[in-house]
Amino acid sequence: MPASDARYEMLERDAAAAASAIREADDVLVIGHIDADGICASAIASRTLERLKKKHDVVFVKKLDDASIEKVNGSRASLVWLVDLGSGYLSAITRQNVIVADHHVPDPGWMNGQTSLFDFSGLIHVNPHTRGMDGSGEISGAGVTYMISKAADEKNKDLAYLAMIGASGDIQDQAGSKFIGYNRKILSDAEGNGDIEVISDLRLFGRETRPLTQFIQYCNDPVIPGLTSEYTECSRFFTELNIELKRNGSWRAWSDLDDDEKDAVKISLIERLGGSGIERLIGEVCVLPRFRKGTELRDAKEFATLLNSCGRYDDAPVGLRICLGDKNALSEAAKNRSEHKKQLSIALNYIKQNKIIREKKYVQYFHAHGEIRDTIVGIAAGMVLGSDGIRNDIPMIAFANADDGVKVSARADKSLIIKGLDLSSAVKTAAERVGGFGGGHNIAAGATIPSGKEYEFLHIIESVIETQLT
Ligand code: C5P
Ligand code: C5P
Ligand code: ZN
Repeated sequence: MPASDARYEMLERDAAAAASAIREADDVLVIGHIDADGICASAIASRTLERLKKKHDVVFVKKLDDASIEKVNGSRASLVWLVDLGSGYLSAITRQNVIVADHHVPDPGWMNGQTSLFDFSGLIHVNPHTRGMDGSGEISGAGVTYMISKAADEKNKDLAYLAMIGASGDIQDQAGSKFIGYNRKILSDAEGNGDIEVISDLRLFGRETRPLTQFIQYCNDPVIPGLTSEYTECSRFFTELNIELKRNGSWRAWSDLDDDEKDAVKISLIERLGGSGIERLIGEVCVLPRFRKGTELRDAKEFATLLNSCGRYDDAPVGLRICLGDKNALSEAAKNRSEHKKQLSIALNYIKQNKIIREKKYVQYFHAHGEIRDTIVGIAAGMVLGSDGIRNDIPMIAFANADDGVKVSARADKSLIIKGLDLSSAVKTAAERVGGFGGGHNIAAGATIPSGKEYEFLHIIESVIETQLT
């Protein structure tokens, strides 16, 4: 049996143990992370519990700080089910009957052995890292939650598409421009149901809802010479190919084009790239054929971004309702979507125009103070990394003011992971040394630290990263 199957089977056994505990529970408190992955995970958990006729509540938290830990430890529910968070803070959980369904790097104290089923700790931990899998690329928080759901009842396979939206939200389809690892297994469940269609297409953002000109203009991975950031040139590009930008008074989106038009665009873009970056331009794309054409629900990336826009603006419950099929929630989410778009654009302009990025030897960083919201500073850091004129051969560390101190977000290019970079442990170590806390994934991590400790944090993280990379 291939090694990968053995790992999958072990994780499936953990998921089955969690499913049994859920069946035995009287009532359940689901605690989910506020981002797209956490919202999808919460929707899967909620639907699963509803089908089991279990009384339950869902609450969302930004991170497992003291207040959220208190929600877990102080809950009167017979079972608490954490989704897309918890693994980094296992030792803070003191109550019995807890399931942690997560894909973040676990609390090191728990790495060896203590990872399984309701042992003396009363905690079931379902996490790919404990079974030799990579939680940053092979399966998301929604994916782990889906495994538990499917173990509870095979019929819950109809929730697989939500797990894939979660994985899209966590950018798990970067390696080779497709999903890998356990995500492929979940994807095949979703394809089997007809909920997802995988096609090879342009991987730019906004296939369903962005007007064509912006669709190309905002492509920065890869940068398309002469078109990226050039609105007028992008309009001319379509005109020269005889492709109408508007039809019947409405802007056309990529999904409105016929196959001949799409081929003409692809050929032309490939020519402009002159051989580099084609594998990132064209690759696997997940279409959700059950949703109406021209809506963001029809494209996994757009769906995930809509959910993210809810979560990052204190509106995760609306995202949850979208996942559960509440039609009214869509119109309520519209304001979050436009706010997210606006805030990200302001953030990126602020970083670039004020040239606030500073370089050290092993890291680069910026401090957004109160100019960028703490909930999106990580997304902004990921977007500027490697964009025009900004290096991607060292990680980006971003700071922003938060209510409880300073929010830190760290992002890196995947090429550094192969060289030994682990942002999760670097951020955790540096944050704890300055009196804060944090964790995450090798490629993306975050923390909260006391304000005034930013430079000490930078100094420490730089030396940890130097050790990792040399
Ligand atoms: O908390 P959670 O695991 O859901 O968040 C993962 C974070 O890692 C997301 O913000 C996602 O954008 C980021 N990420 C990334 N690049 C990757 C994988 C994940 O920036 N290749
Ligand atoms: O907040 P940000 O998007 O930068 O988070 C990056 C990753 O680090 C996410 O997976 C998030 O869940 C994780 N994180 C964490 N502990 C924190 C802050 C972020 O594990 N205190
Ligand atoms: Zn996640």
